[in-house]
Amino acid sequence: MPEGIKIRQVTKIYKTGSIEVNALIDIFLNIKKGEFISIAGPSGSGKTTLLNLIGCIDEVNSGEIIIDERDVTKLNGNQLALFRNKYIGFVFQDFNLIPVLTVYENVEFSLAIHPELKNNHKNLIMNALENVGIEDLYKRFPRELSGGQKQRVAIARALVKNPLIVLADEPTANLDSKNASNIMDIMKRMNEKYETTFIFSTHDNLVMDYAKRIVYLRDGKITEDTVK
Ligand SMILES: Nc1ncnc2c1ncn2[C@@H]1O[C@H](COP(=O)(O)OP(=O)(O)OP(=O)(O)O)[C@@H](O)[C@H]1O
Ligand SMILES: [Mg+2]
Repeated sequence: MPEGIKIRQVTKIYKTGSIEVNALIDIFLNIKKGEFISIAGPSGSGKTTLLNLIGCIDEVNSGEIIIDERDVTKLNGNQLALFRNKYIGFVFQDFNLIPVLTVYENVEFSLAIHPELKNNHKNLIMNALENVGIEDLYKRFPRELSGGQKQRVAIARALVKNPLIVLADEPTANLDSKNASNIMDIMKRMNEKYETTFIFSTHDNLVMDYAKRIVYLRDGKITEDTVK
C-alpha cells in the first residue's frame, strides 16, 4: 500500500555521556493512509520519540521507516528536510506559534518553502483557517488568542500544505475538556475530508476515545495494538 507508513525493527538509543536510554526497541508497526491512531503509554515510554522518528526530526539507530514507499532512514539531512516539508504537518502540546507573526502569517509560514503554491497562497490560507473556524481572527497575534484558538491555528498551519501525515504530540494537554473535544472534532473532520493520516500521542482518555486505533507503548516496546 503506497501512501502508508511501515516501521521495521526500529531501535532508538539516546546517549548522554556514559548513560544510554533505549527509548524504542525493535518496533514493528504498519499504519495505513487515512488512519486516526493514538500512541498511548506512560511517561517516558517512547511516544514522542516514535513521532519524531516518523516526522523525520530524529534518526533511528537501526531499522527502517518507509513512508509512501521511501525509506526515510536512508535520506540525508537536506533530503529529510524536503521530505518533511512536503509530507508532514506537526501539532504540538504548546502550540509553537511564532509570537511576532499574525494568525495569517503563522499559517503562511508553512507555505514559504512551497513556491509551487505561491500564486494561490491567500486562498489556501483562508481555506485552512475556515476549516478550523477561525477565519475572522486572521489578523490577530498569538497572544490575543485563547489556548483552543491557538491550537486551531496550529492545525491550520499543519494542514495548509495538504500533508500526507499529521503528527500531534499531546495536542490537548494544555486544553480544558471542552476545547480538547473541539480540537479532536476538527481533526476528525479533516481526517475524513482529506484522508490525511493522523497520529497522536496522548495520556488523555478523551483523545483515546476519538482514536480508531490505539497502540500502547511501555519501556520502548509495543504492548498492545487495538483497532476499535
Ligand atoms: N534527547 C534525549 N536525550 C536523552 N534521552 C532522551 C531524549 N529524549 C527522550 N529521552 C529518553 O527516552 C525515553 C523516551 O522518551 P519520550 O520523550 O519518547 O517519552 P514519552 O512517552 O513521550 O513521555 P511523556 O509522556 O512524558 O511525554 C525517556 O526515558 C526519555 O528520558
Ligand atoms: Mg512525550
